[in-house]
Amino acid sequence: MLLLGIESSCDETGVALVEGGRDGLPRLAAHALHSQIAMHQAYGGVVPELASRDHIRRVLPLAQSVLAEAGRDLGEVDVVAYTRGPGLAGALLVGAGVACALAAALGRPVMGVHHLEGHLLSPFLGADPPEFPFVALLVSGGHTQLMRVDGVGRYELMGETIDDAAGEAFDKSAKLMGLPYPGGPWLAKLAEAGDPAAFKLPRPLLHSGDLDFSFAGLKTAVLTQTRKLGAALEARKADLAASTQAAIVEVLLKKSLRAIEDSGLKRLVVAGGVGANRELRAQLDAACAKRGVRVHYPELHLCTDNGAMIAMAAAMRLQAGLQQPTGRYAFDVKPR
Ligand code: KG4
Ligand code: ZN
Repeated sequence: MLLLGIESSCDETGVALVEGGRDGLPRLAAHALHSQIAMHQAYGGVVPELASRDHIRRVLPLAQSVLAEAGRDLGEVDVVAYTRGPGLAGALLVGAGVACALAAALGRPVMGVHHLEGHLLSPFLGADPPEFPFVALLVSGGHTQLMRVDGVGRYELMGETIDDAAGEAFDKSAKLMGLPYPGGPWLAKLAEAGDPAAFKLPRPLLHSGDLDFSFAGLKTAVLTQTRKLGAALEARKADLAASTQAAIVEVLLKKSLRAIEDSGLKRLVVAGGVGANRELRAQLDAACAKRGVRVHYPELHLCTDNGAMIAMAAAMRLQAGLQQPTGRYAFDVKPR
Protein backbone atom coordinates (compact mmCIF):
# COMPACT_ATOMS: atom_id res chain seq x y z
CA MET A 1 0.00 0.00 0.00
CA LEU A 2 1.37 3.39 -1.02
CA LEU A 3 0.53 6.40 1.16
CA LEU A 4 1.07 10.03 0.26
CA GLY A 5 1.40 12.26 3.34
CA ILE A 6 1.01 16.04 3.44
CA GLU A 7 2.05 18.29 6.34
CA SER A 8 1.08 21.97 6.33
CA SER A 9 0.23 22.87 9.93
CA CYS A 10 2.62 25.76 10.34
CA ASP A 11 5.64 27.03 8.42
CA GLU A 12 6.94 23.90 6.67
CA THR A 13 5.33 22.26 3.66
CA GLY A 14 6.18 18.56 3.77
CA VAL A 15 5.19 15.77 1.39
CA ALA A 16 6.23 12.13 1.61
CA LEU A 17 5.54 8.66 0.26
CA VAL A 18 5.46 5.70 2.63
CA GLU A 19 4.99 2.07 1.66
CA GLY A 20 3.08 0.04 4.21
CA GLY A 21 1.84 -3.49 4.37
CA ARG A 22 0.06 -5.79 6.75
CA ASP A 23 3.29 -6.80 8.49
CA GLY A 24 6.56 -5.10 9.29
CA LEU A 25 7.25 -1.41 9.71
CA PRO A 26 6.09 0.86 6.91
CA ARG A 27 9.03 2.19 4.88
CA LEU A 28 9.77 5.74 3.80
CA ALA A 29 10.07 5.83 -0.01
CA ALA A 30 10.72 9.57 -0.47
CA HIS A 31 10.12 12.88 1.23
CA ALA A 32 10.50 16.55 0.38
CA LEU A 33 10.24 19.69 2.44
CA HIS A 34 10.01 23.39 1.87
CA SER A 35 10.70 25.60 4.87
CA GLN A 36 9.10 29.04 4.99
CA ILE A 37 11.44 30.24 7.73
CA ALA A 38 13.28 32.73 5.50
CA MET A 39 9.97 34.26 4.41
CA HIS A 40 8.67 34.77 7.96
CA GLN A 41 12.00 35.91 9.40
CA ALA A 42 11.44 39.54 8.37
CA TYR A 43 8.33 39.58 10.59
CA GLY A 44 9.94 37.90 13.62
CA GLY A 45 7.39 35.07 13.58
CA VAL A 46 4.94 33.13 11.43
CA VAL A 47 2.43 35.27 9.50
CA PRO A 48 -0.55 32.89 9.06
CA GLU A 49 -1.85 34.40 5.81
CA LEU A 50 1.59 34.22 4.17
CA ALA A 51 2.01 30.66 5.45
CA SER A 52 -1.24 29.50 3.78
CA ARG A 53 -0.38 31.15 0.48
CA ASP A 54 3.07 29.60 0.43
CA HIS A 55 1.73 26.11 1.23
CA ILE A 56 -0.54 26.47 -1.84
CA ARG A 57 2.45 27.38 -4.02
CA ARG A 58 4.66 24.54 -2.77
CA VAL A 59 2.55 21.49 -2.11
CA LEU A 60 1.95 20.14 -5.63
CA PRO A 61 5.54 20.66 -6.88
CA LEU A 62 6.74 18.85 -3.71
CA ALA A 63 4.30 15.99 -4.40
CA GLN A 64 5.62 15.74 -7.96
CA SER A 65 9.19 15.67 -6.73
CA VAL A 66 8.61 12.85 -4.20
CA LEU A 67 6.80 10.78 -6.85
CA ALA A 68 9.71 11.31 -9.25
CA GLU A 69 12.27 10.48 -6.55
CA ALA A 70 10.47 7.26 -5.64
CA GLY A 71 9.89 6.41 -9.32
CA ARG A 72 6.16 6.13 -8.72
CA ASP A 73 3.10 7.46 -10.48
CA LEU A 74 0.37 9.47 -8.76
CA GLY A 75 -2.13 6.81 -9.89
CA GLU A 76 -0.33 4.25 -7.69
CA VAL A 77 -1.17 6.13 -4.48
CA ASP A 78 -3.67 4.13 -2.39
CA VAL A 79 -4.35 6.58 0.45
CA VAL A 80 -3.75 10.31 0.86
CA ALA A 81 -2.98 11.40 4.45
CA TYR A 82 -2.80 14.96 5.76
CA THR A 83 -2.30 16.79 9.04
CA ARG A 84 -5.74 17.45 10.49
CA GLY A 85 -4.42 19.52 13.40
CA PRO A 86 -3.37 21.14 15.62
CA GLY A 87 -1.97 24.10 13.74
CA LEU A 88 -2.90 27.28 11.88
CA ALA A 89 -6.43 26.93 10.46
CA GLY A 90 -5.67 28.39 7.02
CA ALA A 91 -2.44 26.43 6.69
CA LEU A 92 -4.15 23.17 7.69
CA LEU A 93 -6.93 23.79 5.16
CA VAL A 94 -4.40 23.91 2.34
CA GLY A 95 -3.06 20.43 3.16
CA ALA A 96 -6.55 19.07 3.76
CA GLY A 97 -7.96 20.64 0.60
CA VAL A 98 -5.15 19.41 -1.61
CA ALA A 99 -5.25 15.92 -0.05
CA CYS A 100 -9.00 15.65 -0.65
CA ALA A 101 -8.76 17.01 -4.19
CA LEU A 102 -6.02 14.53 -5.11
CA ALA A 103 -7.85 11.66 -3.47
CA ALA A 104 -11.16 12.56 -5.13
CA ALA A 105 -9.50 12.79 -8.53
CA LEU A 106 -7.85 9.39 -7.98
CA GLY A 107 -10.96 7.83 -6.46
CA ARG A 108 -8.94 6.99 -3.35
CA PRO A 109 -9.70 7.58 0.35
CA VAL A 110 -8.18 10.21 2.65
CA MET A 111 -7.02 10.11 6.23
CA GLY A 112 -6.57 13.03 8.66
CA VAL A 113 -3.68 12.57 11.11
CA HIS A 114 -2.89 14.27 14.42
CA HIS A 115 0.30 16.31 14.08
CA LEU A 116 1.63 15.23 17.49
CA GLU A 117 1.09 11.56 16.70
CA GLY A 118 3.27 12.21 13.66
CA HIS A 119 6.05 13.58 15.85
CA LEU A 120 5.57 10.77 18.36
CA LEU A 121 5.95 8.04 15.73
CA SER A 122 8.73 9.80 13.77
CA PRO A 123 11.52 7.69 15.37
CA PHE A 124 10.02 4.69 13.53
CA LEU A 125 11.26 6.26 10.29
CA GLY A 126 14.87 5.87 11.35
CA ALA A 127 17.38 3.04 11.37
CA ASP A 128 16.90 2.40 15.09
CA PRO A 129 13.14 2.22 15.71
CA PRO A 130 12.04 1.79 19.34
CA GLU A 131 10.00 -1.09 20.67
CA PHE A 132 6.79 -0.55 22.64
CA PRO A 133 6.25 0.33 25.43
CA PHE A 134 8.23 3.52 25.99
CA VAL A 135 8.11 6.91 27.66
CA ALA A 136 7.90 9.77 25.17
CA LEU A 137 9.09 13.31 25.68
CA LEU A 138 7.32 15.39 23.06
CA VAL A 139 8.93 18.80 22.82
CA SER A 140 7.87 21.10 20.00
CA GLY A 141 7.12 24.76 19.46
CA GLY A 142 3.55 24.31 20.64
CA HIS A 143 3.64 21.32 23.01
CA THR A 144 5.62 19.85 25.88
CA GLN A 145 4.31 16.50 27.05
CA LEU A 146 5.45 13.32 28.73
CA MET A 147 3.56 10.23 27.67
CA ARG A 148 3.47 6.55 28.31
CA VAL A 149 3.17 4.83 24.94
CA ASP A 150 2.07 1.17 24.94
CA GLY A 151 1.42 0.89 21.22
CA VAL A 152 0.08 2.82 18.24
CA GLY A 153 -2.90 4.79 19.54
CA ARG A 154 -2.27 3.72 23.12
CA TYR A 155 -1.06 6.93 24.70
CA GLU A 156 -1.36 7.97 28.32
CA LEU A 157 -0.54 11.57 29.20
CA MET A 158 1.77 11.67 32.23
CA GLY A 159 2.39 15.41 32.35
CA GLU A 160 2.44 18.53 30.20
CA THR A 161 3.14 22.22 30.25
CA ILE A 162 0.67 24.42 32.05
CA ASP A 163 1.71 27.49 30.01
CA ASP A 164 4.47 27.88 27.38
CA ALA A 165 6.00 24.97 25.50
CA ALA A 166 9.76 24.29 25.66
CA GLY A 167 10.18 25.45 22.05
CA GLU A 168 8.28 28.62 22.88
CA ALA A 169 10.63 29.22 25.83
CA PHE A 170 13.59 28.90 23.44
CA ASP A 171 11.95 31.12 20.81
CA LYS A 172 10.68 33.85 23.14
CA SER A 173 13.98 34.06 25.06
CA ALA A 174 15.90 34.20 21.79
CA LYS A 175 13.67 37.02 20.57
CA LEU A 176 14.42 38.99 23.75
CA MET A 177 18.12 38.56 22.94
CA GLY A 178 17.54 39.93 19.44
CA LEU A 179 18.07 36.58 17.68
CA PRO A 180 16.24 35.70 14.43
CA TYR A 181 13.10 33.55 14.23
CA PRO A 182 12.77 30.70 15.09
CA GLY A 183 15.12 31.32 17.98
CA GLY A 184 15.65 27.77 19.26
CA PRO A 185 18.51 26.74 16.96
CA TRP A 186 20.07 30.24 17.09
CA LEU A 187 20.00 30.31 20.87
CA ALA A 188 21.51 26.82 20.98
CA LYS A 189 24.33 27.86 18.63
CA LEU A 190 25.09 31.00 20.66
CA ALA A 191 25.01 28.98 23.90
CA GLU A 192 28.02 26.94 22.72
CA ALA A 193 30.23 29.97 23.43
CA GLY A 194 28.62 30.83 26.78
CA ASP A 195 28.79 29.85 30.45
CA PRO A 196 25.61 27.98 31.50
CA ALA A 197 26.17 29.00 35.14
CA ALA A 198 26.62 32.73 34.41
CA PHE A 199 23.03 33.69 35.22
CA LYS A 200 20.78 32.15 37.87
CA LEU A 201 17.50 31.49 36.10
CA PRO A 202 14.45 29.73 37.54
CA ARG A 203 13.67 26.04 36.94
CA PRO A 204 9.88 26.25 37.29
CA LEU A 205 8.07 23.21 38.77
CA LEU A 206 11.36 21.29 38.99
CA HIS A 207 10.44 20.02 42.45
CA SER A 208 6.66 20.03 42.02
CA GLY A 209 6.51 16.27 42.51
CA ASP A 210 4.51 15.78 39.32
CA LEU A 211 5.39 15.65 35.65
CA ASP A 212 4.00 19.03 34.62
CA PHE A 213 6.08 21.84 33.17
CA SER A 214 5.93 25.64 33.25
CA PHE A 215 8.18 27.90 31.18
CA ALA A 216 6.41 31.28 31.32
CA GLY A 217 8.37 32.35 34.43
CA LEU A 218 11.67 31.59 32.73
CA LYS A 219 10.82 33.91 29.84
CA THR A 220 9.99 36.68 32.36
CA ALA A 221 13.32 36.09 34.14
CA VAL A 222 15.16 36.37 30.80
CA LEU A 223 13.28 39.61 30.08
CA THR A 224 14.35 40.99 33.49
CA GLN A 225 17.98 40.05 32.78
CA THR A 226 18.01 41.67 29.34
CA ARG A 227 16.61 44.89 30.85
CA LYS A 228 19.17 44.83 33.66
CA LEU A 229 22.00 44.27 31.21
CA GLY A 230 20.90 47.05 28.85
CA ALA A 231 23.81 47.95 26.59
CA ALA A 232 25.93 45.21 28.18
CA LEU A 233 23.58 42.54 26.73
CA GLU A 234 25.61 42.20 23.55
CA ALA A 235 28.76 41.24 25.45
CA ARG A 236 26.90 38.80 27.74
CA LYS A 237 24.50 37.32 25.18
CA ALA A 238 26.28 33.97 24.87
CA ASP A 239 26.27 33.56 28.67
CA LEU A 240 22.56 34.41 28.86
CA ALA A 241 21.80 32.00 26.01
CA ALA A 242 23.78 29.21 27.68
CA SER A 243 22.07 29.88 31.03
CA THR A 244 18.61 29.86 29.42
CA GLN A 245 19.31 26.61 27.57
CA ALA A 246 20.67 25.06 30.79
CA ALA A 247 17.44 25.93 32.65
CA ILE A 248 15.18 24.45 29.94
CA VAL A 249 17.32 21.34 29.50
CA GLU A 250 17.57 20.68 33.23
CA VAL A 251 13.79 20.72 33.65
CA LEU A 252 13.22 18.49 30.59
CA LEU A 253 15.93 16.08 31.77
CA LYS A 254 14.78 15.77 35.40
CA LYS A 255 11.11 15.35 34.51
CA SER A 256 11.93 12.76 31.85
CA LEU A 257 13.99 10.77 34.35
CA ARG A 258 11.15 10.98 36.82
CA ALA A 259 8.68 9.73 34.20
CA ILE A 260 11.00 6.81 33.41
CA GLU A 261 11.26 5.98 37.10
CA ASP A 262 7.48 6.26 37.67
CA SER A 263 6.69 4.06 34.67
CA GLY A 264 9.38 1.46 35.34
CA LEU A 265 10.11 1.47 31.58
CA LYS A 266 13.59 1.31 30.09
CA ARG A 267 13.02 3.15 26.82
CA LEU A 268 12.69 6.86 26.10
CA VAL A 269 11.65 8.45 22.82
CA VAL A 270 12.36 12.13 22.30
CA ALA A 271 10.45 13.82 19.48
CA GLY A 272 9.53 17.28 18.22
CA GLY A 273 11.67 20.24 17.15
CA VAL A 274 13.40 20.77 20.51
CA GLY A 275 14.54 17.15 20.29
CA ALA A 276 17.13 18.44 17.80
CA ASN A 277 18.86 20.33 20.63
CA ARG A 278 22.37 18.94 21.09
CA GLU A 279 22.70 19.82 24.76
CA LEU A 280 19.38 18.13 25.57
CA ARG A 281 20.48 15.03 23.64
CA ALA A 282 23.90 14.93 25.35
CA GLN A 283 22.43 15.22 28.84
CA LEU A 284 19.63 12.72 28.21
CA ASP A 285 22.08 10.25 26.66
CA ALA A 286 24.48 10.49 29.61
CA ALA A 287 21.80 10.24 32.31
CA CYS A 288 19.93 7.40 30.57
CA ALA A 289 23.12 5.41 29.89
CA LYS A 290 23.80 5.45 33.65
CA ARG A 291 20.33 4.02 34.28
CA GLY A 292 20.38 1.40 31.55
CA VAL A 293 17.70 3.29 29.59
CA ARG A 294 17.77 3.34 25.76
CA VAL A 295 17.01 6.70 24.15
CA HIS A 296 15.57 6.90 20.63
CA TYR A 297 15.43 10.08 18.55
CA PRO A 298 14.05 10.73 15.10
CA GLU A 299 16.76 11.43 12.55
CA LEU A 300 17.88 15.01 13.03
CA HIS A 301 16.22 16.31 9.85
CA LEU A 302 12.92 14.64 10.86
CA CYS A 303 12.75 16.26 14.32
CA THR A 304 11.02 19.37 13.04
CA ASP A 305 7.81 19.31 10.99
CA ASN A 306 7.80 17.09 7.88
CA GLY A 307 5.50 15.03 5.69
CA ALA A 308 7.27 11.73 6.37
CA MET A 309 5.99 11.57 9.95
CA ILE A 310 2.41 12.20 8.77
CA ALA A 311 2.54 9.46 6.12
CA MET A 312 4.20 7.13 8.68
CA ALA A 313 1.58 7.81 11.39
CA ALA A 314 -1.19 7.17 8.85
CA ALA A 315 0.44 3.90 7.73
CA MET A 316 0.94 2.72 11.32
CA ARG A 317 -2.63 3.60 12.29
CA LEU A 318 -3.96 1.73 9.27
CA GLN A 319 -1.79 -1.27 10.03
CA ALA A 320 -3.00 -1.29 13.65
CA GLY A 321 -6.60 -1.20 12.42
CA LEU A 322 -7.22 2.02 14.35
CA GLN A 323 -8.52 4.17 11.56
CA GLN A 324 -10.22 3.60 8.25
CA PRO A 325 -9.47 6.04 5.44
CA THR A 326 -12.66 7.62 4.15
CA GLY A 327 -14.10 8.43 0.76
CA ARG A 328 -16.02 11.37 2.22
CA TYR A 329 -13.93 14.36 1.21
CA ALA A 330 -15.01 16.66 4.03
CA PHE A 331 -11.48 17.98 4.50
CA ASP A 332 -12.14 18.80 8.10
CA VAL A 333 -9.36 20.36 10.14
CA LYS A 334 -8.94 20.81 13.88
CA PRO A 335 -6.71 23.80 14.60
CA ARG A 336 -6.82 23.27 18.39
O1 KG4 B 1 8.14 20.32 16.03
P1 KG4 B 1 8.39 21.65 15.45
O2 KG4 B 1 9.10 21.73 14.12
O3 KG4 B 1 7.08 22.45 15.25
C1 KG4 B 1 5.98 22.38 16.10
O4 KG4 B 1 5.18 21.41 15.95
O5 KG4 B 1 5.90 23.26 16.96
O6 KG4 B 1 9.21 22.47 16.54
C2 KG4 B 1 9.67 23.75 16.32
C3 KG4 B 1 10.36 24.23 17.59
C4 KG4 B 1 10.70 25.72 17.55
O7 KG4 B 1 10.30 26.28 18.77
C5 KG4 B 1 12.21 25.70 17.39
O8 KG4 B 1 12.84 26.84 17.93
C6 KG4 B 1 12.58 24.46 18.16
O9 KG4 B 1 11.59 23.53 17.79
N1 KG4 B 1 13.93 23.96 17.81
C7 KG4 B 1 14.97 23.97 18.65
C8 KG4 B 1 16.08 23.44 17.95
N2 KG4 B 1 15.67 23.15 16.69
C9 KG4 B 1 14.34 23.47 16.61
N3 KG4 B 1 15.06 24.34 19.95
C10 KG4 B 1 16.24 24.21 20.55
N4 KG4 B 1 17.35 23.75 19.94
C11 KG4 B 1 17.32 23.35 18.65
N5 KG4 B 1 18.43 22.88 18.07
ZN1 ZN C 1 5.47 19.98 14.89
